[in-house]
Amino acid sequence: MGDGHGFAESDQWFARAERVIPGGIYGHQSPALLTRGEYPSFMHSGDGCRLRDVDGNRYIDFICGYGPIVLGYNHPAVEKAVDQQRRLGDTMTLPSVRTVELAERLVGMTPGAEWAMFAKNGSDVCTWALAIARQATGRELVVMADHAYHGVHGWCNGITNGFPDSDRASVRAVKWNDSAQLETLLDQDGERIAAVILTPFRHEAFEDSVMPSGEYLEKARALCHRHGALLISDDVRTGFRLDMGGSMQKWGVTPDLLCYSKAIANGHALSALLGSEALRDAASKVFVTGTFYLQAVPIAASLATLTELGASGAIDHMHAMGLKLCEGLAERAGAAGFDVRLSGPPSIPYMRFTDDGTGFDRSRVFCGAASRLGVLFHPHHNWFLMAAHQEKDIDEALAVSEQAFASVKAAF
Ligand SMILES: Cc1ncc(COP(=O)(O)O)c(C=O)c1O
Repeated sequence: MGDGHGFAESDQWFARAERVIPGGIYGHQSPALLTRGEYPSFMHSGDGCRLRDVDGNRYIDFICGYGPIVLGYNHPAVEKAVDQQRRLGDTMTLPSVRTVELAERLVGMTPGAEWAMFAKNGSDVCTWALAIARQATGRELVVMADHAYHGVHGWCNGITNGFPDSDRASVRAVKWNDSAQLETLLDQDGERIAAVILTPFRHEAFEDSVMPSGEYLEKARALCHRHGALLISDDVRTGFRLDMGGSMQKWGVTPDLLCYSKAIANGHALSALLGSEALRDAASKVFVTGTFYLQAVPIAASLATLTELGASGAIDHMHAMGLKLCEGLAERAGAAGFDVRLSGPPSIPYMRFTDDGTGFDRSRVFCGAASRLGVLFHPHHNWFLMAAHQEKDIDEALAVSEQAFASVKAAF
C-alpha cells in the first residue's frame, strides 16, 4: 500500500525486544494478532481517545487498551486522584481507607452485592469466584461456556500449552445460549456443580459477538437457584459499558458473584470481586492474596472513574457514539460493495466481512489500512468505545474507513 504511517522506531524497539523478551511482545498485544508493518509495536502516550506511537504517528483508538480505557487516556479527574494518592502512598504495608470507600461505593451501586474484595486482574477474580463457590457449596465442578475466555489460569486457558489436563478436570463446558443443554447438565450432575460462570454476552475473539437470546441468562439464573449452584457473572470485559449495576442487570439478572476488572479504574491495575450476603463467610475463608492487591493508587483511580462515569452519563454517550460508528461503517461498506456483519452492543462493537475467505482476510486488510491511516480497529477481537470519543472523532474514523474499504476493494 505504501500510504500512511511508517514504523521505523517501532521496528527498532521490536528488534531489541526480541533479544530480551520471548516473542518480543507476548499475549494479546503480540504481532500474531496485530500484524507488524500495519500496526505500531510500541506506544508513546495517550490523551483523550488519541494515542501516539513511538514513531510519532497518531491514532483514534477503538481498542481502548483492550477495554480498560473507558473515560479516555490521561483523564484529568482520574489522574488528579492518582497524583494525590501517589503523594500519600501506594503500597503501604496495610490498605488505605480508600479501599473501604471503594467497597462501599461498589456495594451501593450493585444490586445483590453486599461485599467487595480487590485484586489486580480479571484472571485472579474469576478463579477466586470459583474458589468461593466451591467453599460455599462444598461441591467441586464448575460450568463455563465452551471456548469462553475467563483469563489465563489453567482451568480456562484455551491454549493449554504448559498446563496439565488435570487443571481442567473439574470444569464442564456447555454451548453458549443453549438453555436446554445447561438444564440437562444441571439435571444430571447438579449435586456436584458449585457454579456456572458466564459472560453477559458472548464476545470471544475470532468470533462474531452474540447477545443472549430470549431468556437465556434468566433461565441460567433460575436453573442455578433450582440446583443450589451459584451464578458468576464474568463482567471483566463488559463492566461499566452496559450498566453501572453490572452488565447482567441489562437482562434483569442478578448474579451471586460478579467479577470486574478492565474499565474499573480507567487503565490503572485493579480488579474486584463482588458477592452476595450468603457468600460472605465463604469469601472470608478462602485465602487469596497478592502483594499489590490493595495498592491505594489504583483504588483512588477507581473511585474517580466511577464518579466520572456516573456523573457524565458515559454509558449512554458510548452507546450513541458506538451506534453512529456502526451505522456509518455499514453505510460505507454497502457503498463500497461489501456486506459486513456488525455484532455486539454499540459500546462494545465488532465488524467482520461476510464471506471473508478464511474468515479474516478482508478484516485484516481493512484494519491494517485503517491503522496506517490513523484509526485503531482490531481484525479479530471486539472493539470498545470510550467516553472521550466525540462526534468529530467518529466522523474522522468513518472518513478513514472509506479509504480502508477502498484498500480492501483493491486487494480482492
Ligand atoms: C471476560 C474476561 N474474563 C477474564 C479476563 C482476564 O482478565 P485479565 O487479562 O485482566 O487477567 C478477560 C481478559 O480479557 C476477559 O475478557
